[in-house]
Amino acid sequence: MSTGLVAPTVSAPAAARGTTPDRAVRLEGVSKVYGTGDRAQLVLDSIDMRVAPGEFVCLLGASGCGKSTLLNLVAGLDRPSAGDVTVAGGRPALMFQDHALFPWLSAGRNIELALRLAGVPREERRDRAEELLELVRLPGAHRKRVHQLSGGMRQRVALARSLAQGSGILLMDEPFAALDAITRDLLHEELSRVWRERRLTVLFVTHNVREAVRLGQRVVLLSSRPGRVAREWNVDLPFPRRIEDSGVSALATEITGHLHEEIVRHARA
Ligand SMILES: Nc1ncnc2c1ncn2[C@@H]1O[C@H](COP(=O)(O)OP(=O)(O)O)[C@@H](O)[C@H]1O
Ligand SMILES: [Mg+2]
Repeated sequence: MSTGLVAPTVSAPAAARGTTPDRAVRLEGVSKVYGTGDRAQLVLDSIDMRVAPGEFVCLLGASGCGKSTLLNLVAGLDRPSAGDVTVAGGRPALMFQDHALFPWLSAGRNIELALRLAGVPREERRDRAEELLELVRLPGAHRKRVHQLSGGMRQRVALARSLAQGSGILLMDEPFAALDAITRDLLHEELSRVWRERRLTVLFVTHNVREAVRLGQRVVLLSSRPGRVAREWNVDLPFPRRIEDSGVSALATEITGHLHEEIVRHARA
């Protein structure tokens, strides 16, 4: 497919997209320092991390521990002070808490713009935008202006626009943090479905433990000041999952214990 919307799987299609079969994202010895001299702050310290093609990894940590910094490095928006960041198959798509849609464009036009930037020919853009709106369950929203949409609908459009960028790798920085619990739950369902249908590779940042366990195949916990990989868990729970599943809440309880330890340790440091 010329848009590249079909993301890599672990087998042949991954190679066809130019991604190596074993990893879509790799961080090796990545450190990030902000400021210089007395004001230098080590935010990330020797991070080693891999995300396999088609994998959904949640990066979890307390506020200020460096999650957004790490995601920005993977997105290529910033450079590490040390170490290497490798991303297979070009620039990944990014989605933030703030939908960042252009308010003067309709929902459909926002998506079409991303398609245009991804090199999709003009005559295909309208249909592709409609398809993407259907994928995020917003059929008929093409002409709606951003101010006419609810917060949840805006994030659906933002997800569709991210997919329109044509990358198989989606980086998400607390995209649902501003939504109410019910809307967030629906968006979790949609994201999880879209990830499986499109075989995307997702690196999802959150400070919400349940969200991480509900969505991720793997949860990586970052410590604070400096941010280091404190621990990680494989989430061997079947999909589709629900936030209230007993397996989700049991693992979330365990991980919350470790997150609290990190926060307390940091407060004492
Ligand atoms: N551009 C920047 N310049 C200086 N300090 C920054 C910059 N971006 C982030 N920081 C600092 O780095 C730390 C980690 O920030 P951030 O990555 O945003 O954390 P998180 O996303 O986990 O809440 C914070 O102490 C923050 O103040
Ligand atoms: Mg952040």
